[in-house]
Order: sequence, then C-alpha cells, then structure tokens
Amino acid sequence: MRAEQRVTGVEDVGPYRLLRVERGGLQPGTPGQFFMVEAPGRLLPRPMSLCLESGGELGFLLDPVGPGTRSLAACEPGQRIRVLGPLGNGYDLSVVRPVLVGGGIGIAPLPYLSRRLGEPPAVLGFRTAWHAEAAELVPNAEVVIDPVLVTDALAELDDLEGADLLACGPEAMLRAVASLSPRAQLAWEAPMACGYGACYGCAVEIDGALRRLCVDGPVLRASRGAMRGLTPVDARPDTGVAA
Ligand SMILES: Cc1cc2nc3c(=O)[nH]c(=O)nc-3n(C[C@H](O)[C@H](O)[C@H](O)COP(=O)(O)OP(=O)(O)OC[C@H]3O[C@@H](n4cnc5c(N)ncnc54)[C@H](O)[C@@H]3O)c2cc1C
Ligand code: FES
Repeated sequence: MRAEQRVTGVEDVGPYRLLRVERGGLQPGTPGQFFMVEAPGRLLPRPMSLCLESGGELGFLLDPVGPGTRSLAACEPGQRIRVLGPLGNGYDLSVVRPVLVGGGIGIAPLPYLSRRLGEPPAVLGFRTAWHAEAAELVPNAEVVIDPVLVTDALAELDDLEGADLLACGPEAMLRAVASLSPRAQLAWEAPMACGYGACYGCAVEIDGALRRLCVDGPVLRASRGAMRGLTPVDARPDTGVAA
C-alpha cells in the first residue's frame, strides 16, 4: 500500500536519526520487510526497514550517509512524505531459540523483530560508543565495540549450534554469521529503485542465478549460498539526475 504520511517526530539516536511517521492505513508487516520512503527533493524513494511500530506510528532508523538519507533525516514534524510497503520477505518467525545479530545501522529492523519474538537475546556490534547508543532500542542486547566483533561474542554463546541466528548488518558480518550457521537468516542490501520487482535495479546473484533482491529477499537463509552484488553500490554511474 502507498500512502502519504505525516511526520510525527525526528530524534537523534547516537549518530543515527529515528524518523517517526503516522501509521494511518499502513500495515507494519513482518520484521525484515521494508518500505520505500520518499526522500524529499530526490527522484527515487529509499528502502528502509521498519524499526518500530507503536501508538499509531511507524519508526525508521536512518544512517544519514548520502543525499536521500540526509534529506529524510532533515524532515520536520508535520511534513508529509509518501511511504510504500511493507515489501519483500521478512524473517521467518517460527524459530525456537532466536538470537538477534546486528551491526551498525543493520540494527534497524531488530527493535521490531525483538518485540515480535518476545525480546530474545541480541548481540550488537558498533564502530564506536557513540554509534552503540542505538543499542538502547534493542532489549536484552550484549554490545561489542570495534575491534571486538559480533562473531567473537557469538562464539561465547552456550549452544551456538542450537541457536536460530537472525542477522542484519554489513556484508562481511553477514558472511561471517553464515559461516557459523547454515540456517541463519540474513537481511541483505542492494540499491533499490522501485522495491517491488519492476526495475531490476536490485539484481544480485544468489546461488549462481540472477534474482531481484526486493522479491526474493531481502531476508535469505544462509543455506541459499553466497549472495553477490552485481554492481558495487559505490560504483553506480552518476547520471546527473538527483536520484
Ligand atoms: C531492504 C533495505 C532496507 C534498508 N533499511 C535501511 C534502514 O532501515 N536504515 C538506513 O539508514 N538504511 C537502510 N537501507 C540502506 C539505505 O536504503 C541506503 O543507505 C540509502 O538508499 C542511501 O541513499 P542516499 O541517497 O542517502 O545515499 P547514496 O548516495 O545512495 O549512498 C551513500 C553511500 O551509501 C552506499 N549505499 C547506498 N545504498 C546502499 C545499499 N543499499 N547498501 C549498501 N550501501 C549503500 C553508497 O555506496 C554510498 O557509499 C536499506 C537498504 C535496503 C536495500
Ligand atoms: S528494486 Fe526494482 S526490481 Fe527490485
């Protein structure tokens, strides 16, 4: 469903920004699904995981890394932005011993996932103590800061083999988590223009075949094999259009 929603609040969470919009008729969907959120002044919306759902609001945690996310981070309460979703495939919630794993802005879908799974343990990794302020959004979290890695903390878990790992974070972290458990569920990223299968902008190689990540993913089982981006996200052509 696409709707124009009113921004209800924007606040700092360490270096990130939590953008809240009225929920209106939008369904929150399954954790790990995403929304295409209008970035004011830009041609294309940006994919965002749902971070929080409460009190008639949807919350998105933003890392202002470029023009789209910066324009979203600068939104003001009362402004109206178009939001489309929920889209894609989220996490399979029929897990027995969930452990949430997040790295950096990859923690974005974990607060909503944690609530839906009854606040299971989480292991979160950040670059600095400032970034780690975002851990306050995830209950029952063990936090590690570089150079300690989330996989170092996971290795110390009792019965790691029996754990259902649900992860979101940088590619290197996802690959390391995949090597720990073939049943791990991993939320991947690729550049997305439409979010619903029409543009092929998110084409990636999964198990050697070309797939649209917005349709097949973004959450994939580690057992589906390596996901390989076809266009490195920082090597996209500069078309001169304010995308
Ligand atoms: C399913 C999905 C869910 C996402 N959820 C969130 C979220 O909850 N919060 C959040 O802050 N971001 C999220 N992202 C990433 C976010 O959409 C991109 O960072 C954003 O589109 C960048 O737009 P920009 O114009 O700000 O920066 P750009 O100028 O497009 O990019 C700035 C920098 O980020 C890199 N980058 C851009 N897009 C991606 C990408 N998809 N993956 C990896 N690197 C990228 C570029 O290479 C560049 O270095 C998600 C992405 C996907 C695919
Ligand atoms: S983003 Fe358009 S096909 Fe996936």
